[in-house]
Amino acid sequence: MQLYLAPLQGLTDWIFRESFTQHIGRFDKTFTPFVRVQSGDFYRPSQCNDLLPVHNTFQKPVPQFLGKDAESFKRFEALCLEQNYTEVNINMGCPYPMVTGKGMGAGLLQHPREMTNLLNGIFADTELKISVKCRLGLENANEFEELIPVFNAFPLEEVILHPRIGKQQYKGEVDLDAFARYAPQLSHPVCYNGDIRSVSDVEKIQQLVPQVDRFMIGRGILQNPILLAEIRNEKVNAGQKADMLRKFHGAIIEHCRQKYSGDLHMLKRLEELWEYHAETFENGRKIYKQVKKCKNLGQYEAVVFQAINEME
Ligand SMILES: Cc1cc2nc3c(=O)[nH]c(=O)nc-3n(C[C@H](O)[C@H](O)[C@H](O)COP(=O)(O)O)c2cc1C
Repeated sequence: MQLYLAPLQGLTDWIFRESFTQHIGRFDKTFTPFVRVQSGDFYRPSQCNDLLPVHNTFQKPVPQFLGKDAESFKRFEALCLEQNYTEVNINMGCPYPMVTGKGMGAGLLQHPREMTNLLNGIFADTELKISVKCRLGLENANEFEELIPVFNAFPLEEVILHPRIGKQQYKGEVDLDAFARYAPQLSHPVCYNGDIRSVSDVEKIQQLVPQVDRFMIGRGILQNPILLAEIRNEKVNAGQKADMLRKFHGAIIEHCRQKYSGDLHMLKRLEELWEYHAETFENGRKIYKQVKKCKNLGQYEAVVFQAINEME
């Protein structure tokens, strides 16, 4: 079985990935949050920093492209080749209207012809391995039926399928019936993604679609970083868990100190992590409230390390 860390914009950036890989565990693959490229140019050039090798010393991620035309992809490809990457992922799942309205992300799913043009343009001349990360559709899960022949026509590395539709964003149920129906029709290896929060969630998918042995996990890892070890059946006792978390948070704080000049910006970012990560702790709601009240990094450190100490 292969386990992947999902790309989560603003959360699983290089700071998270480096700290996690060094102190908690190594996924089989990690992915950068999307780098948006429009009309051949980077939409926010700072997004490119996340894939620089200097920030990815413990594990090379798979860089993710968000865009809709081959010209933009070529710009992204040039950057990836310059940085010695061999594989990239294409985002066909971002559900935000500002993205889908421009025909990118999940906005591509209703337009098999545009998707074919994009993939034709990419595969016409590329040295990279290409995978896609997609949803079942933008407005309806049946949209996927028309996408199967499109995906099957190209030599994709793998298809990562999050069985929701764009309209749901990240809420509502994942459609496991649709996943079980469509996954076997894809000629590529399929990776399951969505709402994995426990070992039994993985087992449920394995029973449903036995040929799927790749799983991508996002929010479940923020909620319980030890989930990676649990799925691999590696034993971690309470003392080891506290120690891992102490080092993991220590590394995040150190990296943040280097990256951010002011405490407030940094604290906003850390607060977002705790929106999910609070669940790791029995009294998580209280800790999350304390994190939100912190006015500087010193206060934040005190709250976090006290919470970990109390865990033991
Ligand atoms: C805050 C947030 C940011 C996300 N950013 C990205 C992204 O940059 N690229 C992407 O492909 N998916 C992104 N996703 C989707 C996740 O990768 C994943 O598909 C989704 O959260 C379902 O998996 P999970 O339930 O394991 O988190 C994001 C999701 C969230 C909640």
